[in-house]
Amino acid sequence: DIPVIAIDGPTASGKGTVAAGVAQALGWHILDSGAIYRLVALASMRREVAAGDEAALVELAGHLDIRFDVDGAWLDGECVADAIRQEAVGARASVIAALPEVRAALLARQRQFRQVPGLVADGRDMGTVVFPRAQLKVFLVAAAQARAERRYNQLKAKGISANLEDLLRDLMERDARDTGRKAAPLVPASDAMTLDSSAMTAAEVIAQVLSLYRA
Ligand code: CDP
Repeated sequence: DIPVIAIDGPTASGKGTVAAGVAQALGWHILDSGAIYRLVALASMRREVAAGDEAALVELAGHLDIRFDVDGAWLDGECVADAIRQEAVGARASVIAALPEVRAALLARQRQFRQVPGLVADGRDMGTVVFPRAQLKVFLVAAAQARAERRYNQLKAKGISANLEDLLRDLMERDARDTGRKAAPLVPASDAMTLDSSAMTAAEVIAQVLSLYRA
């Protein structure tokens, strides 16, 4: 069996950074499943498909021409690493991700990332739906205030001005949407280890995940 480490959790909990660090330490592949939802969102905006047109979105999700490399995500042969990080794309991704048929259309594509020697998968439902037999499942949480501050500092480092109050409000709205939806709601798998990173550095969380895996 090709091993999988599933890292799930709410928005801005540090999953991406932790997944990248763990994958690098082990020399494994990585799946940023949120980027796939963001790619569907971006493609739908570019093709003017309405966020509520489930049939068209399912069709789009099933035939998406996407690729990942060191530069990030590619859509229809164009590098869209920055484009998919826009707030508007993230917001639409979270709306689209609530549609069960769209999620189903993306299942096989996500599972294809499981290749030797192993995969670190980050998202909301890696341990519950996509890789239910993952060798290690981590549910990464952090206080909303700590997550808002991290996002604020990330944006500041990129020279983007942001307002902490607005970030906190957006983040709590996204939490409510991810947790309250019927399709793959954000909940830890019954066999997941919950890690609270509010008072931990990324390096500490990475070390902790590696030691859980090696234990
Ligand atoms: O930055 P943030 O954590 O909000 O976003 P992301 O991880 O890039 O994911 C974008 C959106 O896709 C999230 O708001 C989730 O609703 C959705 N998503 C999902 O439903 N299932 C996943 N496995 C990954 C992301």
